[in-house]
Amino acid sequence: MRAMRWWDIPAVMSIEDELFGDEAWSEGMFWSELAERDTRRYLVEEEPVGRLCAYAGLCAYAPHEAYIQTIAVAPRVQRRGIGEALLVELLGEAKRRGCDHVDLEVRADNDPAMRLYERHGFAQIAVRRGYYQPSGTDAVVMRRVK
Ligand SMILES: CC(C)(COP(=O)(O)OP(=O)(O)OC[C@H]1O[C@@H](n2cnc3c(N)ncnc32)[C@H](O)[C@@H]1OP(=O)(O)O)[C@@H](O)C(=O)NCCC(=O)NCCS
Repeated sequence: MRAMRWWDIPAVMSIEDELFGDEAWSEGMFWSELAERDTRRYLVEEEPVGRLCAYAGLCAYAPHEAYIQTIAVAPRVQRRGIGEALLVELLGEAKRRGCDHVDLEVRADNDPAMRLYERHGFAQIAVRRGYYQPSGTDAVVMRRVK
């Protein structure tokens, strides 16, 4: 696991497009996130051959809120503990920065992700109707209090 750098963005985008299709972040969104050096922590995971296979990002405004901005694991390496390891690292980062809670949004139909978050102490606090576009899928807002 290491910090995401700007030159990772093409490899990140290929996983992003594969996983999220029409609702994928743009390359520009990753550039802006990486530019916000003080409040962001973005990580990537590589396979032994050096091929990028997962990434995740945190936005933290100490001493209060932090947000898990994204977590994505390439389908070929899912269910091997990589998503969980990235989440644990970002939760540790939020704690180190003194944030008293961590929020995230997840598609209401994304059971695997919700299960992962619940395992780490997140609970549903709100629903944003039609949040994900263009599909109109609801977002579940989840929070973990330290
Ligand atoms: C959700 C995601 C990040 C999980 O990462 P992962 O590396 O595949 O998951 P892990 O191996 O770390 O799994 C940890 C736990 O999460 C839950 N989980 C993960 N994938 C699951 C699945 N397909 N079905 C049910 N539970 C699942 C389980 O509780 C699992 O623990 P277990 O394997 O001991 O049962 C990954 O599947 C992914 O990138 N999905 C597509 C993108 C996405 O939905 N991102 C989240 C947006 S909010």
